[in-house]
Amino acid sequence: MPIRRIGILTGGGDCPGLNAVIRAVAKAALGGGLEVVGIEDGYLGLIENRLRVLTGADVSGILTQGGTILGSSNKANPSNYALPDGKGGWRYEDVTDRVLEHYRQAGLDVLVVIGGDGTMSGAATLIQRGLRIVGVPKTIDNDLWATDITFGHDTAVATATDAIDKVHTTASSHHRVLVVELMGRYAGWLALNAGVAGGADVILIPEVPFTLSRVADQCVARGRKGKHFTIIAAGEGAHPLDGQRFVDRTDASSPDPIRLGGVARFLAWQLEKLTGMESRSVVLGHVQRGGAPTARDRCLATLFGVKAFDLLMAGEFGRLVVSRQGQIDSVEIALVANKVRTVPLDHEMVKAARAIGITFGD
Ligand code: F6P
Repeated sequence: MPIRRIGILTGGGDCPGLNAVIRAVAKAALGGGLEVVGIEDGYLGLIENRLRVLTGADVSGILTQGGTILGSSNKANPSNYALPDGKGGWRYEDVTDRVLEHYRQAGLDVLVVIGGDGTMSGAATLIQRGLRIVGVPKTIDNDLWATDITFGHDTAVATATDAIDKVHTTASSHHRVLVVELMGRYAGWLALNAGVAGGADVILIPEVPFTLSRVADQCVARGRKGKHFTIIAAGEGAHPLDGQRFVDRTDASSPDPIRLGGVARFLAWQLEKLTGMESRSVVLGHVQRGGAPTARDRCLATLFGVKAFDLLMAGEFGRLVVSRQGQIDSVEIALVANKVRTVPLDHEMVKAARAIGITFGD
């Protein structure tokens, strides 16, 4: 069956570069005489039948815009959709049939889903039910299995690095320990890369459980060398060797209900007691997901979008665009579902950080 009408959606947390992918897919498709339909708020738009035709004008001038012109949702999993139960809680329904009906009603021949692991897990289920899907990986966390890099990560690293650069001023002027809490969920890529780029003295990542006394020792040792301040880049998933991850809240309406947070506050509090140095915490939060994509993310997003278009035109459905060793390629979406790509302990950036005296608190 020829491809005439392409649906496109963005799922999960927003990230810089989503619009660049939408633009690339749409421009390639419209240029080839195809129709493009934008689905609002990720899978939610397919569940609620909120779709709109995208024209050239809709996707013009959006390359530099953060966020997504289509809206996104990290809550609407069609096979386990949360609805209020009327008693202040949630009940879960499989609304996949509704999604299939709306997809067919809209006359879509294929769907491009741009998202992270949650979105790809949803896609894997829809593929089993017969939908033709091509996936594009996004996330500031860079934790998607099978791809070396996701767009959005580079921009988030740049934003986080800028923040770490800026807290140096107060840390050094006031002789303080400054703990910066970075996103990344269960993977430490963001904290690792921004920590190295920002010249952090301590980097704490989920993959390397820390011992508080070792972190404190580093702060004190720096003081002995005449450096009376310490900058700590802590991934939100970092946790003590003998303790649990820090959970800020749980959201039962979301496929991944855990929202991490609190490690920086804990560290600042404990380190002040252990070292006697005044300590503060900064939580960067959603600032890391905002703003215009970097040039690198714009290029990657464009490469990914065009590759997605090529895959669907070639009839290669059920595939996820990936970047491996500098090559744009694709893998089966089903292979990626429910997997997290964490930082290998022998990763070259970990080794480089250790070689220049950065401690991971282990
Ligand atoms: O996956 C992207 C991400 O920003 C994570 O780094 C973070 O843990 C999570 O999303 C926050 O989710 P929310 O926007 O629902 O608070």
